[in-house]
This record gives sequence, C-alpha cells and structure tokens, in this order.
Amino acid sequence: MAEEKKILYSGMQATGTLTLGNYLGALRNWITLNEEYECYFGVMDMHSITVRQNPTEFRQKARDLFTLYVAAGLDPEKNCIYFQSHVPCHAELAWILNCYTYMGELNRMTQFKDKSAKHADNINAGLYTYPVLMAADILLYQADVVPVGKDQLQHLEITRDIAQRFNGVYGDVFKIPEPYTGKIGARVMSLQDPMKKMSKSDENPNASVFLVDDANVIRKKFKRAVTDSETEVRYDVENKPGISNLMDIYSATTGKSMEDIEKEFAGRGYGDFKTAVGDAVADLLTPLQERFAELKKDKAYIDSMIKANDEKAYYTSTKTLRKVKKKIGYTEMIR
Ligand code: TRP
Repeated sequence: MAEEKKILYSGMQATGTLTLGNYLGALRNWITLNEEYECYFGVMDMHSITVRQNPTEFRQKARDLFTLYVAAGLDPEKNCIYFQSHVPCHAELAWILNCYTYMGELNRMTQFKDKSAKHADNINAGLYTYPVLMAADILLYQADVVPVGKDQLQHLEITRDIAQRFNGVYGDVFKIPEPYTGKIGARVMSLQDPMKKMSKSDENPNASVFLVDDANVIRKKFKRAVTDSETEVRYDVENKPGISNLMDIYSATTGKSMEDIEKEFAGRGYGDFKTAVGDAVADLLTPLQERFAELKKDKAYIDSMIKANDEKAYYTSTKTLRKVKKKIGYTEMIR
C-alpha cells in the first residue's frame, strides 16, 4: 500500500484582487506541493466578511480567486480547492473552539490590533475571533503543515495552543500543525513604499501589481516604482529597499541571482532596470492571464470542479467534526 501523504492546508482571503506578492510569495509555490502532500487550499470567504463587502463584487471576487488558483496552475483534480463557506463544518467547529479560547489570548493578536485601528468604525466580534475560525480551518483537515506568511504565524501559534488544550481535555482529537518550512517565495514589498508589504488593499493603485493588470499597466507601475537618489543597481535591503525589492522581484521572475543582476545592469542606471523588471513580470503573467480568461468562459468546468472539491472538503471535515461533537458530549441527532 502506498505510504499516506502528510496533509497540507492553506488558503487566501477572497477579498480584493491577488497581487504579484500573493503570487510570488505563496500561490506559485503551492503548485507542486501536491507531489509530497495531500493539499487543501481554501477560498476563505468567511474570513472576508469581518470587513464589509459589496455583495456583487464579493461574489465575483471569490469565484475569481478560485479560478485564479486554477489559472496559476493549481490542479483542481490533484488539490482540494474549495470555498470555506460551502462547508458548514468550519462555522460549527469555530463556535466550539471559541469556547476553548481565552479572551486574553485573542487580545494579544497583533492582526486584530492592526485591523481594529484600520476599521475603527467596525470592530466586530468576528474580527476578534478571526483566529479561532482559522484554527477551525486547519484543525478540521488534521493538517500536518501550514504554509503561511510571517504575518500569520501568530495565528498558527494560537491554533496549536487551542488544539493542545482541547486534546488535553479529550484525548488526541486534533493533529498539532506545524508551519511549513520548505521553500517559500519572495516577500514582495509595495512599489510606492518599500518598507511595507505589497497589499491587495493598498489605497494607492501604483503600490501593487495585480495579477490581472494589463501588461502596459504593469510596465508603467514598475517605471513609477519608488527607488532612491543613487543610480547603481545594487542589493542592499537596508539602504536601498526600493531597488532591492525590484531585484527580488526580477530574481523571482527570471531565476537570476543578485550578482548576475548587478552585473547585467552595471553602469546602466535605474531606467533600464525598471523597464526590464516590468517586461519580465508582464511576460510571467501573460500566460496566467490568458488561462484565467479562458477558464472564466468555461463555467461548466469551473462549476464541476467547485462541486467535486466542496464535496471532498465536506467529507473530510465532517469526520473530524463528528469526533469532536462526540467527545464534548453533544447528544446524537435521531435520523
Ligand atoms: N488569515 C489568512 C490570511 O489572511 C487566510 C487564512 C484563513 C488561512 N484560514 C487559513 C491561511 C488557514 C492558512 C490556513 O492570509
């Protein structure tokens, strides 16, 4: 019998439009993970409503995120790509885990503090218990590893704490997940403020390159990227964060080393370099965009993949949830 693969779980929020940062930092690196792991990737639409969404746009964005996963090369027949809101186990387990999570723990979450500052007019309870829902996502699938960015490590830590606490009371119900430590992608910074991570929700449209941006728009954004007053293309994150970010992006798209890049642009100035980065990124994204456009037209195919994967996610998570309910002493439904 084949050895069972370990389980890997991750996902992205279905808010905004994916950026080059999401692609180089996460999505692109997910594509081959299924060779080693049984992979689950969620369209995290339940987390999205912790911030107000326009219903029409939200529906479209969530579906586009699923389609972008596929367009980027995540094979929906080899990975379970599904919608969080289509699998009610997430909401159910999140409620249960809320009762095993302390307010003191949630008070320490830096993302909650940041988001409450940003959305001061809507500090809702969902924003506060966001990490508990994330714990439910991960624990339902008995994930061994979770690839997440630095900003989500604290949420993974609380997931482990909640799981250990629960297991401490009821025995081994949840697997304790570890952060994925394999190769992770480039950390892409804002093109307008290289001290900040590139974000889907930046108010400045020139700060982020979106996966669906037209090639000319991409080139323009790179031309306008904030750099420094020198002229030398040299990797120095501390003193030249803008140029270093562009070098990271160029290296991630072309596979060239920093040394090669420095040589390639020695004596040529920033203008040439920015043009080259813009061209490289546009070339990288064009095939993805073509595939995205094709897939969007093939509603029947996307629908069939959504259906099959929702069912798989439902099946797997129900097994965990059933066990949890039994352990805590819920009565059984009479059928
Ligand atoms: N909170 C994550 C983010 O914003 C998205 C997410 C939700 C997630 N549930 C998850 C990531 C479970 C990994 C595992 O990036």
